[in-house]
Amino acid sequence: MSAQGQSYEQDARWAAVDAYSFGHLNPASSTTPSNEVLSAALHNSSMQGLPDIAVSASQGKYLQLQARLVRAKNILEIGTLGGYSTIWLANAGPEVRVISIEVDEHHARVAQTNIEAAGVADRVQVRLGAGVEVLPQIAGEVKQGTLGRFQLVFIDADKENNWSYVDAAIGMCEPGACVIVDNVVRRGQLARDTSDPRVAGARRVVENIGKDGRLDGVVVQTVGDKDYDGFLMAVVR
Ligand code: SAH
Ligand code: DHB
Ligand code: MG
Repeated sequence: MSAQGQSYEQDARWAAVDAYSFGHLNPASSTTPSNEVLSAALHNSSMQGLPDIAVSASQGKYLQLQARLVRAKNILEIGTLGGYSTIWLANAGPEVRVISIEVDEHHARVAQTNIEAAGVADRVQVRLGAGVEVLPQIAGEVKQGTLGRFQLVFIDADKENNWSYVDAAIGMCEPGACVIVDNVVRRGQLARDTSDPRVAGARRVVENIGKDGRLDGVVVQTVGDKDYDGFLMAVVR
């Protein structure tokens, strides 16, 4: 049972399909990041007491492929945790630069260690602070031209602030950029008007994007190693 009291959605078929397909599509010889690097990041995060809430391996790969599809050079992430998704994104290419925002000092420290161990410290900058405080600083740097505009934004922090993150991100993106918001489906609660503020945060982002001419979006429901959930994916016009 989760903190909210609903039963945990797991299915042996979902896990088996992730294991089967990830195993075939990520042969040991040609995968970046390597399975060793990924396991080390997860193991160290767990040893340091971080919660097991990183994206799954297949979801990490999906994020990296999206980054490659938009030929991302500059990537913004909100919610670093132990840097697992960050490491996937940083491996989208040697020229990729990732800025990842994390409010928790311990998480940021563990992430920095994992990012160094993964060999991508030169591509990643972890910025410590709350999204609502750090994003305006980054927006200022983009406006001044000291930071390039983003081609991909991954939002995976406090779900209540999802809309303010999307709204802020649009102003720092290139036309055609991809904005991805994690955990919007929440075992199907997205379709129900509940009192959970995280569901409300997901619903606000869906409803606002539908009315916002700056973005065109879709929700992709996912199952797998990590529950029944899903991404919201939107393209900046
Ligand atoms: N993207 C990571 C998982 C992130 S978990 C991965 O898939 O590997 C969510 C993270 O967001 C946690 O580390 C949490 O500390 C952080 N967070 C929560 N509220 C935040 C805020 N207001 N600003 C920035 N980060 C926040
Ligand atoms: C939680 C947060 C996440 O970003 C996620 O992918 C799964 C769970 C959480 O806060 O419980
Ligand atoms: Mg998440």
